[in-house]
Amino acid sequence: TKLAVFASGTGSNFVAIQAAIEQGELDAEVVLVVSDQANALVLDKAKAFGVETFVFDPKAFTNKAAFESKIVEALHIKAVEGIILAGYMRLIGPTLLHAFEGRIINIHPSLLPSFKGLDAIGQAFEAGVKITGVTIHYVDAGMDTGRIIAQACVAIDDADTRAMLQTNIQQVEHKLYPETIQTLITKGDFS
Ligand code: GRF
Repeated sequence: TKLAVFASGTGSNFVAIQAAIEQGELDAEVVLVVSDQANALVLDKAKAFGVETFVFDPKAFTNKAAFESKIVEALHIKAVEGIILAGYMRLIGPTLLHAFEGRIINIHPSLLPSFKGLDAIGQAFEAGVKITGVTIHYVDAGMDTGRIIAQACVAIDDADTRAMLQTNIQQVEHKLYPETIQTLITKGDFS
């Protein structure tokens, strides 16, 4: 199954997906990394894995439909079947949603519907909850609102710092995302 990973940042989930592919645990190929940040670390990681990148500057377009049309074109050229959002810091618009209906998923570092939006890890930490976690969901027009596919818990101990919580969340993400993508592929969700 041919996938595109969309990311604006570090790309640790992209690396986890590549590792799962290389270990034969994920029957997929990441054929394109899409980023709205020319300096994103994920782009260096894509190059290291020999994965093609599509980088765009949203400010160079008149609106979201204009840059999303270009993205859709790039995805079609690479015959992409599913879109994996991994720290892509933008809402997906109608152009992409319609072109890949039901085939776009996101990972969010909280147990949705709690702590939507930016800095979900910090939000959970500040709220003092004792259990938070990771959610993988289908993407719709809202922010972190699509139908939930999978969740995993992460406990917050009283002695934990925010940084420790982030490490624990990331560890869970790096396991849950490849596993969930494989489950969806097996179900035929992307084809
Ligand atoms: C992850 O925590 C993910 O849940 C959130 O953005 C972060 C991306 O991290 N949506 P990375 O770029 O994969 O390291």
